[in-house]
Amino acid sequence: MIDQKELEALNAALSEAEPREILNKLLDRVPNTAISFSGAEDVLLIELTKKRTNPPSIFTLDTGRLHPETYRYIETVRDHYNRPIEALFPDSVEVNNLITIKGMYSFYKDGHEECCGIRKVQPLRKKLSGLDAWITGQRRDQSPARVEVPIVEIDKAFSTQEHQVIKINPLANWTSTQVWEYIRMLDVPYNTLHDQGYVSIGCEPCTKAIGPNQHEREGRWWWEEATIKECGLHRPNIQEKP
Ligand code: ADX
Ligand code: SF4
Repeated sequence: MIDQKELEALNAALSEAEPREILNKLLDRVPNTAISFSGAEDVLLIELTKKRTNPPSIFTLDTGRLHPETYRYIETVRDHYNRPIEALFPDSVEVNNLITIKGMYSFYKDGHEECCGIRKVQPLRKKLSGLDAWITGQRRDQSPARVEVPIVEIDKAFSTQEHQVIKINPLANWTSTQVWEYIRMLDVPYNTLHDQGYVSIGCEPCTKAIGPNQHEREGRWWWEEATIKECGLHRPNIQEKP
């Protein structure tokens, strides 16, 4: 359990720290923590923890709608680091009901929340009930909605009265340029979609390549208002910021 005072002290102490130092410090403090790997440039979280004696476990939310390139990439990462990557699947009855009643592409008509809720948020909630913290690749430069993402926070979306969930965002301070310089410098494998104009990568039906001068999240849920381009994985924490 981390209280508000300790949280503030940790954020203050780590505000200028490099991602590796952030990871080491917080993994020592909260060992029962896993990396949430989306199959994109958040691979750095795996790279930066690989030398720890007990590196954190890794999971990915397999929505069933990822690009073939992303599935191949997840396999490449598993081989490269010789680490298991747990695939979290959605509840089959819920998916079945959704697509039987509303079809495979309901999100284009009535928004992505319902499908993301079933395919991402519920499996994540289940997983987090057994963890004390999770590590994400969120960065402040990813979108206006993320400019205040802290290094470490109490995850209000997934904590319950009985069980606190901490959310660790070691890349919060880093820019896209820093992330990519690091990936290239260390020859870290990356998703081949990045060579085809994809910057932010989510599910196949909900992700487009972007063009010059478009913001990196413009290719996500592009048919919706920019203000709601967050799915339930991260939105509640961002919205509740004062
Ligand atoms: S999203 O909410 O819009 O999909 P984004 O793609 O920016 O999130 O990714 C931010 C972080 O959320 C990733 O670095 C990762 O930690 C987590 N995340 C997003 N999608 C997944 C996924 N499919 N599986 C596991 N983690 C994910
Ligand atoms: Fe469904 Fe699209 Fe959300 Fe993936 S990103 S879970 S396909 S709405």
